[in-house]
Amino acid sequence: MGDLRLVVSGGPDAGGVLDLITAASERGWTVDVTATKNALEFMDPSEVARISGRPIRTTYRFAPDGTRISPPADAMIVAPATFNTINKLANGIADTYPLSSMADVIGRGVPTVLVPAVNEPLAGRRPFRRSLDELRAEGVRVLFGPVDGWVPGSTEPFPWIKALDLVEDIFGLARVDSRASLGA
Ligand SMILES: Cc1cc2nc3c(=O)[nH]c(=O)nc-3n(C[C@H](O)[C@H](O)[C@H](O)COP(=O)(O)O)c2cc1C
Repeated sequence: MGDLRLVVSGGPDAGGVLDLITAASERGWTVDVTATKNALEFMDPSEVARISGRPIRTTYRFAPDGTRISPPADAMIVAPATFNTINKLANGIADTYPLSSMADVIGRGVPTVLVPAVNEPLAGRRPFRRSLDELRAEGVRVLFGPVDGWVPGSTEPFPWIKALDLVEDIFGLARVDSRASLGA
């Protein structure tokens, strides 16, 4: 399929990330995991590295010639996305490697799905609502709300597979569009 960037931020749902890596790998994606420093507290980094077949990125890496190494991304899933990460991302704050790399990937128009993991009080905050609107306006598919079946405080399992299905749909459509514009 291609290179799937998975960005994980710091909440308990981060512990389930292996489910997504396993499913995406079975579907033919190469999965590259980026995690915030806080996310590392909620997951087993060595197990994530083992299952994905590559180390987790939390900071910039540099080639011997000093250039920054940017792994390729054909699609991106941001999940779980914390209140903190969502608000920073939507407001263009890029003061860590995960935020900076997400800003870049979204700026390139790469198909992106973001799954917030926030409780009800945080979900009702105006900055959060505004941030989701901003991200949607930039083409990010936000998987959140009753229509998506993922609501704050939900007892449903975290929607890893739905996020993967969605990003594949968007990725497939983007490929059809680019072939059409090339007259293929
Ligand atoms: C046990 C625990 C659970 C947390 N769960 C959440 C959560 O579900 N959603 C959220 O937005 N923040 C949650 N937080 C707070 C975030 O970890 C905190 O805002 C942190 O700064 C997020 O950093 P990050 O966005 O860089 O990963 C939790 C914190 C702790 C200690």
